[in-house]
Amino acid sequence: MENEKKKRIFSGVQPSGILTIGNYLGAIKNWVDFQDENDCIFCVVDLHAITVHQVPADLRRRTYETLAIYLACGIDPAKSTIFVQSHVPAHAELAWVLGCSTMFGELSRMTQFKDKSARNAGNVNAGLFTYPVLMAADILLYGTDLVPVGKDQQQHIEIARDIAIRFNQTYSDTFVVPEGFFPKSGAKIMSLADPTKKMSKSDANQNGFISLLDDRDTVMRKFRRAVTDSETEVRRAPGKEGVGNLMTIYSCFTGKTDAEIEEEFRGLGYGEFKEAVGAAAADGLAPLQARFKELMADKSYLEGIMKEGAEHANHIARKTLSKVYRKVGFVGL
Ligand code: TYM
Repeated sequence: MENEKKKRIFSGVQPSGILTIGNYLGAIKNWVDFQDENDCIFCVVDLHAITVHQVPADLRRRTYETLAIYLACGIDPAKSTIFVQSHVPAHAELAWVLGCSTMFGELSRMTQFKDKSARNAGNVNAGLFTYPVLMAADILLYGTDLVPVGKDQQQHIEIARDIAIRFNQTYSDTFVVPEGFFPKSGAKIMSLADPTKKMSKSDANQNGFISLLDDRDTVMRKFRRAVTDSETEVRRAPGKEGVGNLMTIYSCFTGKTDAEIEEEFRGLGYGEFKEAVGAAAADGLAPLQARFKELMADKSYLEGIMKEGAEHANHIARKTLSKVYRKVGFVGL
């Protein structure tokens, strides 16, 4: 539509492990579809990643890998801005200001903070606690309308909205109040080893997740071992979360509806179903993996993209930050 302003889209992934099909189906795959009609910015959020200890050499490598995965999944640098969070200092700077408009009580209620502090009891650092403030800064710096993420980020989007509204009320209208975008299918992919738990790239149990870089044999093996139930029928029902999760994954890779999937596997049992899900996932990942390999062989190409992205992001972010600094009463030079 000609006179309708393009929507600003912003999202990011932490380079804290090799991404899983959860990250892909819940987030990145949907980013690709936004690129033609909107103004998209996608970030590799390395500042967020160090809220959990990272081996420096691994973090460096994974930052390149995450960027390469964005590209391999179809994020096009000619259409979208792609950058690394630590290359744009305004994120950390705005986070400080927003932290002063965020209450201790509201951060204490974040379920992700509670989960992560339970899992990393020896390292419950201040960064882990203020994580959602930095995420709000990421989003609010760019006048973001829509944030495409998985369901686990919903609470973080809500606090970003609350922070924006509170700042606007205190200092006059400054920030666009963002909305989350959650895909109809794939917003919460569950672990293959425990379908009551979210699939996570930091899961110690390798059988719980499918990495985007798992080879075909590994993908097939993990799906064969996926936890289901003692019945044989492929359908979605309470107590059949494992099967429901496999149906979601199959649907995301093939575009088939639940009714079509039930029909396809009527009378066939879980063995054949799991083979089909594994094959669909492996087929879906193969082209992405081939492209990833090519991209990782050309670091200077990736660095060029980072650099160009950082320049563009810096330009927008600095403008927002100066406006914020003026509004709160900092003296400009
Ligand atoms: P992260 O790195 O944990 O995950 C990246 C994206 O993948 C989605 N996701 C899933 N979706 C479906 N099923 C799953 N099992 C699954 N696991 C992960 C996440 O919802 C997310 O969209 N805090 C964010 C990163 C972030 C960010 C931002 C996102 C920092 N700043 C600004 C959007 C906007 C995170 O930890 O994502």
